[in-house]
Amino acid sequence: MSKTLLVTGGSGFIGSNFVRYYLNRYPDDRIINLDKLTYAGNPANLSDFDDDDRYRFVHGDICDVELVESLVADCDGVFNFAAESHVDRSILGGAEFVQTDVYGTYVLLEAARKHEVERFHQISTDEVYGSLTEGAWDEGFPMEPRNPYSASKASAEMLVRAYHITHGLQTVVTRASNNIGPYQYPEKRVPLYITNAIDDQPLPVYGNGLQIRDHLFVDDHCSAIDLVFHEGVAGEAYNVGGENEANGVEVARAILDQLGKPESLLQFVEDRAGHDQRYALNSGKVRQLGWQPAVDTEESMRRTIQWYVDNESWWRDIKASDDYLAYYKRQYGERLK
Ligand code: NAD
Ligand code: DAU
Repeated sequence: MSKTLLVTGGSGFIGSNFVRYYLNRYPDDRIINLDKLTYAGNPANLSDFDDDDRYRFVHGDICDVELVESLVADCDGVFNFAAESHVDRSILGGAEFVQTDVYGTYVLLEAARKHEVERFHQISTDEVYGSLTEGAWDEGFPMEPRNPYSASKASAEMLVRAYHITHGLQTVVTRASNNIGPYQYPEKRVPLYITNAIDDQPLPVYGNGLQIRDHLFVDDHCSAIDLVFHEGVAGEAYNVGGENEANGVEVARAILDQLGKPESLLQFVEDRAGHDQRYALNSGKVRQLGWQPAVDTEESMRRTIQWYVDNESWWRDIKASDDYLAYYKRQYGERLK
């Protein structure tokens, strides 16, 4: 039987890739995308679905109780991607993070409970665990978030857990590592570096550039979400990592190398406050469900870089916007002097 699903934040990076992935995979299902279109939401990310009657866009806020209830009433399941998602912005000011990531998740959970949706899938992050130096987190590790963004995501997860235990809501959570791929807003490191390098602008490396991140191609994240939504055990969380660890200098060099740009573009700048040293996930639990990434490290970076090379107008429009220019000045003005 065909289903109608609510995707929140579907006009952002991962949400838009997920909507495309899902409708291609399940041609009989329908998706309602509820998105506030903050600076990070871009209708162009899904313009290929403008005339597709399986897809409906609703411009609105997940904190709007009435709107959320009216949409959830028509849906079989909810995927909550909507969030303020950038750590550096959360350091500049955390109010919107608490509002959207925590209160917005509460509003969605409450509507999902009232309308007894079959599944509520919370898109979470490896950052909820904090920072580690050795080994890898499994899902039993305590949540020890260290910045306002990750604290807001951990708080949201606590509510999801409570709604499962208290109200029996059929929840699942996925905690993914750093996604890369098409349509990522160029405030995040990888698209920032690619687009700056294309324009021969400096690549700002925070601190000593030795902090480690694990990179996951966005389509592989989408396939894991699909699997956990359909096969995951209610009340459980699943790590989704790419097992592609690299430090900041290595990431910058790989991008410069593929674009044929000089290493002199690399510029060490003042560190991020509370900079997490390393994230690493043990993804054995989701692999046991049958998931494995389809794209390896080199290929995921190669495809990502090529997409930005081929889609200059997409990111040039963003980089010319007032929001982006103001943010860039605030974040990097002093750092890049
Ligand atoms: P993004 O910033 O690119 O997109 C967020 C989307 O949410 C935007 O379209 C924005 O307009 C929308 N939005 C924000 N506030 C809203 C509100 N109040 N109501 C409705 N819509 C709202 O984010 P992303 O990188 O695609 O991340 C998506 C989700 O995945 C987030 O929950 C994030 O925490 C999680 N996540 C991201 C990564 C990553 O590497 N990017 C990794 C793990 C988990
Ligand atoms: O791990 C999952 C998380 O990955 C997601 O939950 C977040 O939504 C997503 O933004 C991302 O968070 P990070 O903080 O890891 O990503 P970001 O691209 O901001 O930074 C990656 C690393 O690069 C980090 O060590 C900080 C460093 N960095 C970042 C920027 C923007 C720099 O050295 N220079 C920069 O200019």
